[in-house]
Amino acid sequence: MPGLAERALGSRLPWIAARRAADRPILEEIAAHRASPEGREDILALLIAAGGEDGAPLSDEELRDQVMTLLVAGHETTSTTLAWCFERLQRHPGCLARLQEEIAGERGDAYLDAVVNETLRTRPVIDQAVRTLTGPTEIGGYTLPARTTVAASIRSWRSRRSCVRRSDACACGRRARRRSDPSAGAGSRPRPHEAGS
Ligand code: HEM
Repeated sequence: MPGLAERALGSRLPWIAARRAADRPILEEIAAHRASPEGREDILALLIAAGGEDGAPLSDEELRDQVMTLLVAGHETTSTTLAWCFERLQRHPGCLARLQEEIAGERGDAYLDAVVNETLRTRPVIDQAVRTLTGPTEIGGYTLPARTTVAASIRSWRSRRSCVRRSDACACGRRARRRSDPSAGAGSRPRPHEAGS
């Protein structure tokens, strides 16, 4: 009962105090937007104007949750991935040239898509996905009891010898071809890189 705990114990619980401290500037910003909405074009203004799925205005708490999601889950993931994308392209001038060619020639975005996917594969911004089992589950020949915490480790998968070799160059060319021909390599593991493609 988070509401009861919050009311009864208030800021004496460190995580509640921390959450309130994090909420404060967001709630102040929401109040400022509501008080003077004119001329604002930022994401908060868009959220206030858009409302919820049923069109009803979002409450302060709903707006705070949306902003927090953007800050915590959306901003850092996207900006880190973009930074790695630029880094990867600088290190693979062949890929950069091909991407610039595709963009300049207005020939769709198959190669751009492949570059983004390859960046996400080789520089995953989230290195594992953690779950708690709700029932006995067999994974890789081991039967694990309920309540076991399991993690799909993207980082470990990337460190496997078979994958490390492939990560030395860029696989965007093959990825882009696979996208234009979905039957090619569908469902397969990533293929060896093509240097300079
Ligand atoms: C390059 C960009 C991004 C990457 C690589 C990424 C990656 C991921 C991954 C791997 C998960 C699953 C985590 C898990 O299940 O344990 C996840 C969940 C989530 N992401 Fe992202 N994300 C990105 C951008 C964003 C953006 C822009 C937003 C919101 C504006 C967002 C919001 C969320 C939310 C709300 C969840 C939890 C979904 C749920 O389980 O209910 N993400 N993301």
